[in-house]
Amino acid sequence: MENIANYKYHKMASTELKIFENIASLADALAQAISQGIEQKNNGQWYTIALPGGSTPAVVFKHFAEFYKDKISWEKIRFFWGDERCVDPTSDESNYQMAHKNLFQPLGINPGQICRVMGEYDPPKAVMHYRGVLKEFVEEQDGLPAFDMMLLGMGDDGHTASIFPHDKKILSSLNSCDVTTHPQSGQRRVTLTLPTINNSRKVCFLVTGSAKAPMLKRVITGENANHLPAYHVKPHSGTTDWYIDRGAASMI
Ligand code: 6PG
Repeated sequence: MENIANYKYHKMASTELKIFENIASLADALAQAISQGIEQKNNGQWYTIALPGGSTPAVVFKHFAEFYKDKISWEKIRFFWGDERCVDPTSDESNYQMAHKNLFQPLGINPGQICRVMGEYDPPKAVMHYRGVLKEFVEEQDGLPAFDMMLLGMGDDGHTASIFPHDKKILSSLNSCDVTTHPQSGQRRVTLTLPTINNSRKVCFLVTGSAKAPMLKRVITGENANHLPAYHVKPHSGTTDWYIDRGAASMI
């Protein structure tokens, strides 16, 4: 396992900032957290991870494929998504396609471990199908899926997964997942809801780049943040780990 020395962290009430020099050392630390999570999981049970979309996760997945093929027990993981665009799985827009290209294909992940959102379905049908997948393959706690690890990105508008600011319907949804619409592009999305995200055993944000610094400061400090979905990620299980680089952390 790579030596992960070059990060510093700040621990605040239920938030841990892990600040890294670069995405490679961020990915090394996340790989260690995934390995530890798998080790702590009861023998024989699947370790469930919900994946995000976005450019930062894509770089992290590539790093995993290059350096962790034999260092993580990938065969013990079932993969899900925190959100998916309502597009064909072969589309470059698809979060599944991004993970397939950067992680699953290079690692030779068994398709039986992959529980994707059916982006090619009509959105309401895709949501109903994904609710069934979550019910069947993710352990429940208090009537909602309880993922072992929830990986999230954060947009510079404070969205996370595909929960966008000012979308009152999704912010108050008690379903496991729902349909949303991207505020600029109008693209339909399927997203896990905040109650599901907050039901996770471990939540890790992956946020890099100085463009995210102003929003990250608001979300961490809570300053004028009440309408920001990322601010409302507060897992019942305890801490939210922020895996960030110096650029994103530059205003904290
Ligand atoms: C998506 C993602 C979205 C993403 C953030 C951050 O489907 O686009 O799930 O929530 O994680 O927008 O994306 P970047 O890492 O590319 O900034």
